[in-house]
Amino acid sequence: MLLWNGKLVNEEDVRVSYHDRGYYFGDGIYEVFRIYQGHLFEKEAHLDRLYNSLAEIKIRIPWSREELSDQLDQLRDTFGEQDGMLYLQFTRGEAKRAHAFPASSTAVMLGYCEPLARPVDAIENGIATITCEDVRWLRCNIKSLNLLPNTLAKQEAAEAGATEAILIRTDNTVTEGSSSNLLIVKNGTIYTHPDGPLILSGITKKVIERIASELQIPYVQRSFTREELMAADEAMITSTTMEAAPVITIDGQPVGTGTPGPVTRRLQEAYLQQVH
Ligand code: PDD
Repeated sequence: MLLWNGKLVNEEDVRVSYHDRGYYFGDGIYEVFRIYQGHLFEKEAHLDRLYNSLAEIKIRIPWSREELSDQLDQLRDTFGEQDGMLYLQFTRGEAKRAHAFPASSTAVMLGYCEPLARPVDAIENGIATITCEDVRWLRCNIKSLNLLPNTLAKQEAAEAGATEAILIRTDNTVTEGSSSNLLIVKNGTIYTHPDGPLILSGITKKVIERIASELQIPYVQRSFTREELMAADEAMITSTTMEAAPVITIDGQPVGTGTPGPVTRRLQEAYLQQVH
């Protein structure tokens, strides 16, 4: 079953107009929720971010937060007790192609669940990464459907045999991954780019921050440079789908010992306790 404009429907009942502004302009926003054994992980945090994205691009939806939350529960119930993800997007809706917003259009909602196993290999053994120039706009806090810079960076990583692209601005600031946040560890302290317009405020990263505080691991939100990244003892990416995955190489250079480090391991262990 899919969630289509507030109702559970079969796939053949979903009809997207070629006039949908998501199709023409990428004019919409999305969320990816994690489902662990039928449970929506950090649901309220994802809803908070969803509402923030909607407000930032001025899309209004006709459902209250309670109604939307119930609809997501109903969709999840059709999925059962497995591990998976729930994808949800809103576009500004249908209108003849013109850049400015139409006088009236109704937001179009699509949601579905898909099975997704935990990324055990990446979590256990770590991932290879490359660096890429961060050519994105200055509103990366919005979870926008416009993902061309992200998809191009991810493709560059894939072509280099790597799992993720780490984005670095022309002023040498390391921001995040193409579809993940980035944290490094130096002398026992975790560093990560502060929330704000240059990165997406990751829900997984928030969970890691909470865990770091519980484990009394120093956690500092400040930007860092490529040189600091390359000199890190440990690095990890975080996302709803990747959880906390150790970065073991960057552009072919090992991070620290080139194996998942002790701080990353402690965070991963505690993360696992939260999701199961
Ligand atoms: N991406 N930064 C970017 C650019 C992302 O696209 C994502 C997630 C994150 C991590 O956010 P969170 O921990 O809330 O998932 C950071 C999702 C998974 C995606 O686009 O598929």
